[in-house]
Amino acid sequence: MDSKIKTLNEKLALAKLGGGQDRIEKQHKKKKLTARERILYLLDEGSFEEIGALVTHRTKDFGMENQKFYGDGVVTGYGTIDGRLVYVFAQDFTVFGGSLSETHAEKICKIMDMAVNVGAPIIGLNDSGGARIQEGVRSLGGYADIFYRNVQASGVIPQISAIMGPCAGGAVYSPAMTDFTIMVQDTSYMFVTGPNVVKTVTNEEVTSEELGGASVHSTKSGVAHKTSSNDIECLEDVKALLSYLPQSNREKPQDLEFELKDEVRESLSNIVPDNPNKPYDMHEVINGIIDEDSFYEIHKDYAENIIVGFARLGGKSIGIIANQPMFLAGVLGVKSSKKAARFVRFCDAFNIPMLVLEDVPGFLPGTDQEWNGIIVHGAKLLYAFSEATVPRVTVITRKAYGGAYDVMNSKHIGADMNFAWPSAEIAVMGAKGAAEIIFRREIAAADDKDAKWKEKEAEYAQLFANPYSAAERGFIDEVILPKDTRRKLIKAFSMLEQKEVNKPKRKHGNIPL
Ligand code: HXC
Repeated sequence: MDSKIKTLNEKLALAKLGGGQDRIEKQHKKKKLTARERILYLLDEGSFEEIGALVTHRTKDFGMENQKFYGDGVVTGYGTIDGRLVYVFAQDFTVFGGSLSETHAEKICKIMDMAVNVGAPIIGLNDSGGARIQEGVRSLGGYADIFYRNVQASGVIPQISAIMGPCAGGAVYSPAMTDFTIMVQDTSYMFVTGPNVVKTVTNEEVTSEELGGASVHSTKSGVAHKTSSNDIECLEDVKALLSYLPQSNREKPQDLEFELKDEVRESLSNIVPDNPNKPYDMHEVINGIIDEDSFYEIHKDYAENIIVGFARLGGKSIGIIANQPMFLAGVLGVKSSKKAARFVRFCDAFNIPMLVLEDVPGFLPGTDQEWNGIIVHGAKLLYAFSEATVPRVTVITRKAYGGAYDVMNSKHIGADMNFAWPSAEIAVMGAKGAAEIIFRREIAAADDKDAKWKEKEAEYAQLFANPYSAAERGFIDEVILPKDTRRKLIKAFSMLEQKEVNKPKRKHGNIPL
């Protein structure tokens, strides 16, 4: 028996070494942790249980039968984060550059299946040179097996991708179909075709970083939901994100213990300026409402005219969607609509109640927006809110103009509670523009055109630049004082906690993708 135990121990020791000490050192020189170090940092101490440590590839071409490494370039298994079960895979760049073979893919698929059946999140730590070139189509098949499972798991269990090295070619489509992608600054990149192909096809000279680094994907493309400055920060970001999410769509997010006090927040009274055209930072409103330091922002540097993220209110997890008057006056555009729509659908799929903070002057006008499909992208947000069945509450802080009033979680599209501050202006458009259109003839006929315009603008503002017409109709449930917002929201979400909506049977809707 002793010799058999020795054999096992030797094999496991080899598995732990991955591609060998030299390659581990190379990984460290690049300021990257190894796959195992990443998993051990991510999971609660002593909780990791590995699955498939002794798997090897089956390839015989190109002399591969003589190059076998236990684990075959990916460490897979399960463990806990803050005591909650998660499944995890980490690609091991020290073994064939973390490239994906048939068996590497099988290992990932195995834990994805377990995660779905058990109902627990799956976390992928990606660091890979792509398809195992020596395996050809078997590798491509392996990718497709993973893609298929990403889709089957979508909306069932949270799926989180951390990009901690290369992620190129078709490999990018697995992270793209997961719920959140976090990229490490400087050491990770994602692109469908790399700089060499780009140069050949378009004659464009571009570096990997310029083409698909973390900065590009968190500001320009929106592929990355978050950027972390190094491996450790990235793993901390994954842990923090998970704390807001339920284990699966069968559960609600975990409540944190919370003692209710200090529910009146005077600070909220002085944020919205008297001048309706002056910007203010909606983050101040968010922070004034939520539990202290609990905001986890998603897509922070992308489409900044809308803010989305998770927070806690009275210890409970909520999703926040808020217009940001500091950027483009908070208008809805192509990117901001897509950003918000995806977040709304995530919250709805995973039983996370939504709070909308609204100050929106409308949709962004112009050829750029129209030609890029603001009609269809704006419709995504409208659709996403309209089909959401989780508790949904809106607070209008200032402008709620035009179609954007309808879109931003209005009563008409299924919101449960709609509050407005006294500073709210709910109208088809701003008073100045409205006066110009409906009083055009009167203004033109007046001796003092400017004075007439101002008079008509004031008349329109008097009628509509307030929350009261909407409140009289019941489109607004209550006009509240800013300082009472937190208290009102805690009560409203608590009242809505058991909300259930039965939808008519259908295969699925046809969201304007
Ligand atoms: C097999 C690979 C590999 C791959 C890297 N290696 N990529 N082995 N298949 N795809 C091996 C290298 O031979 C090397 O082995 C080790 O991993 C480390 O690679 P290096 O090149 O030394 O590392 P580095 O200089 O950091 O460069 C990393 C890299 C580069 C940029 C990722 O390796 C690279 O360009 N690889 C090929 C990328 C690629 O074209 N992949 C296929 C994409 S198409 P040794 O033994 O020397 O340590 C694709 C299709 C997917 O993925 C479609 C899905 C639908």
